[in-house]
Amino acid sequence: MVWNTFVEGDNLDVLPTLERAFGKVDLIYTDPPYNTGNEFAYRDDIRGVAGGTRHEAWVAMMRPRLAAARALLADRGAIFVSIDDNEAAYLRLLMDEVFGEPNFLAQVVVNLNPKGRQLGRGFATSHEYLLVYARDARQTVLDASSPDTVVASDFPLVDARGRHYRHLPLRNTNKKFNPVTARTLHFPVYGDPESGLVLTRPFEGGQEIVPVFGDGTPAVWRWSAPLIDERGADLVCRVVRGKNGERLDVFQKDWLHRDGGRRKKLRTIWLAEEVGSTDTAVAELKELVGHVFESPKPTGLVRRILATMPDDALVLDFFAGSGTTGHAVALANAEDGGTRRCLSVNSAEPTRVGSNARNAGLLTVADITRARLRAVAERFGGGLDERVHVSPVD
Ligand SMILES: C[S@@+](CC[C@H](N)C(=O)[O-])C[C@H]1O[C@@H](n2cnc3c(N)ncnc32)[C@H](O)[C@@H]1O
Repeated sequence: MVWNTFVEGDNLDVLPTLERAFGKVDLIYTDPPYNTGNEFAYRDDIRGVAGGTRHEAWVAMMRPRLAAARALLADRGAIFVSIDDNEAAYLRLLMDEVFGEPNFLAQVVVNLNPKGRQLGRGFATSHEYLLVYARDARQTVLDASSPDTVVASDFPLVDARGRHYRHLPLRNTNKKFNPVTARTLHFPVYGDPESGLVLTRPFEGGQEIVPVFGDGTPAVWRWSAPLIDERGADLVCRVVRGKNGERLDVFQKDWLHRDGGRRKKLRTIWLAEEVGSTDTAVAELKELVGHVFESPKPTGLVRRILATMPDDALVLDFFAGSGTTGHAVALANAEDGGTRRCLSVNSAEPTRVGSNARNAGLLTVADITRARLRAVAERFGGGLDERVHVSPVD
């Protein structure tokens, strides 16, 4: 199985051809030109025809491409699009239009420039955004959590076998759940604070415990009586000190390492120390092919996105640039044995004369993408299927 495929061509022409060859895609990550007007290797200045604003021109460029991307997305799929302040507001409305507001999942703040931009006046902007939409929010398999954000220090207790855990109240601490709303979960259990033993029936040394909130009002357990009997070894009875003095309570031993792996919900601010920065991205690219692209994304950012989807996902990046998404897919497969495949698309737009890429002999941006994905295949395996889209002559 080939992990990476690169198609050279204008994505507007290429996107409608991909389903026939590869089927529907599960995950799209893409990073379109931000319309900054900066001098990168590629053109980042999308201007309107007479009378239109630059935003209108950018939206007109993006609309049919996002619509083609949506048509290619599986029902279980999701799309992540990077953007900065130049077009963020316009992209948000455009995504609402193309994907539907109910399918909006998040607008993540990504801290890619931790030092902040020092050029010019005003604020030292240190973040950009990631807009996340499901193809269908009711059917998406996107799991907005990650195994990487779990921190061992959140599990401070250690058992005799050296396993880390923490105590979670067995009592449901959400006041919405109480004996009126969840009648069957309000029942007495029996606990011994000396041995820690918890059972649903009376025993020698066991004292009756009913679930109560801190203020003494009746609460409910999170586990049913049969589950408490089955997993009693994961429960412990302890003395707690509350507003009304000492009382007995029951805690669940929540293990750091548990079957199926532990994941933590992803917050909507992603820090450079977690996902990398533009500087680390430039260094990653430099190490493989040289400093030939000014604004790559760190592979850590794409790997966090990959972790929200099954490890056999078919991934697409239709503004591939230096090929970061394909690189991240190879890294993820090499690490966890996954069978992700990635389709990268970039046009053969000429690299800017005077840019590092042009000086390095890379005449088109597609040459940059190919150079990196070839280097990735050489270093991490997975091969590279190289294609060129030839537009039908009109
Ligand atoms: C912001 S860059 C992507 C950078 C990439 N995420 C990375 O990490 O290197 C945008 C890319 O879109 C490409 N591009 C612009 N218009 C395109 C089009 N119509 N079809 C395909 N690629 C296009 C540009 O050549 C450029 O490489």
